Amino acid sequence: MQYYCAPLEGITSWHYRNLHHRYFPGVDRYYTPFLSPSQHHVFSKREQKEIHRARNQGVPVVPQLMTRQAEDFIWAANALFDLGYQEVNLNLGCPSGTVVAKGKGAGFLARREELYRFLEEVFQRVSGPVSIKTRLGLKDPEEFWPVLACYNQFPIAELTVHFRVQKDFYRNPVRREGLARVLAESRHPVCYNGDLVTDADFKALKGAHPAVERVMAGRGLMADPSLICRQKGGGPLKRETLRAFLDELYECYCVCFDSRRNAMLRMKELWFYQGCLFQDSEKLLKILRKATDWRVYEDTVERIFGELELLPEPRAGW
Ligand SMILES: Cc1cc2nc3c(=O)[nH]c(=O)nc-3n(C[C@H](O)[C@H](O)[C@H](O)COP(=O)(O)O)c2cc1C
Repeated sequence: MQYYCAPLEGITSWHYRNLHHRYFPGVDRYYTPFLSPSQHHVFSKREQKEIHRARNQGVPVVPQLMTRQAEDFIWAANALFDLGYQEVNLNLGCPSGTVVAKGKGAGFLARREELYRFLEEVFQRVSGPVSIKTRLGLKDPEEFWPVLACYNQFPIAELTVHFRVQKDFYRNPVRREGLARVLAESRHPVCYNGDLVTDADFKALKGAHPAVERVMAGRGLMADPSLICRQKGGGPLKRETLRAFLDELYECYCVCFDSRRNAMLRMKELWFYQGCLFQDSEKLLKILRKATDWRVYEDTVERIFGELELLPEPRAGW
């Protein structure tokens, strides 16, 4: 089984990926949060940092792009292959209203003919493997079958399917009913994504669908960074390891942003999930969420680790 770390914009930055890879080895691939190649064919300063080779040294990283302009995708993908990346991923799943209104992310799924022409041009002109991360559709999971027929006509390296439709955002239960058919009908290796949070979730998925060979975890992994490490035989999460990981990540952001306040804001995004791994954490998490002063943030993290029990698995909190 291959285990992937999902891209989460605002959380799985290069700092996170590097440290996670060191503290909790076992993830076979980390996908970057999406980059948005523009018509000017230059990566923004932030994007340049994200993909800089030295910053991703020794970590298996797949950069992700989101655009509906073939020309811009081809430029960016080839630039990434020139930098040494082995694969580039296309985002066809982002559910954000503004993204979808522009026909990008999950919005592209509703423009099938245009998507076909986009993929045709891309696969003629890219110089390396391209994978896709997709949702099932916009409103109805049945929308996926013609989309899958379209994917099947191209040499896609791998198809990661987040088993939700756009209107589900991240809330509604995953729509796993179609998984067996997707596995049977896809010409490409399929990676399952959606709501893998506990060891039991992995076991249940493997039991019900032994043909699944690739899985991607997002929020569950943010709540319990040892989740994948454990699937590969690692031991239970130790409090001191978690503390060391989070402290080092925070200090890394402090240096990088030259601002403890901005580092705190970044860490709060992770704590939204991380907090679910602590028992009776509501009160302290509320203080942490509302903190505008980094001293309050640091003090609250200290109290969380000093006062609260670590749960064996995250409680559903998102
Ligand atoms: C805060 C947040 C940011 C995300 N950013 C991205 C992104 O940049 N690219 C992408 O393909 N998916 C993104 N996703 C979706 C996740 O990669 C993943 O598909 C989704 O969370 C479902 O998997 P999970 O249930 O394991 O979390 C994001 C999700 C969240 C919650």
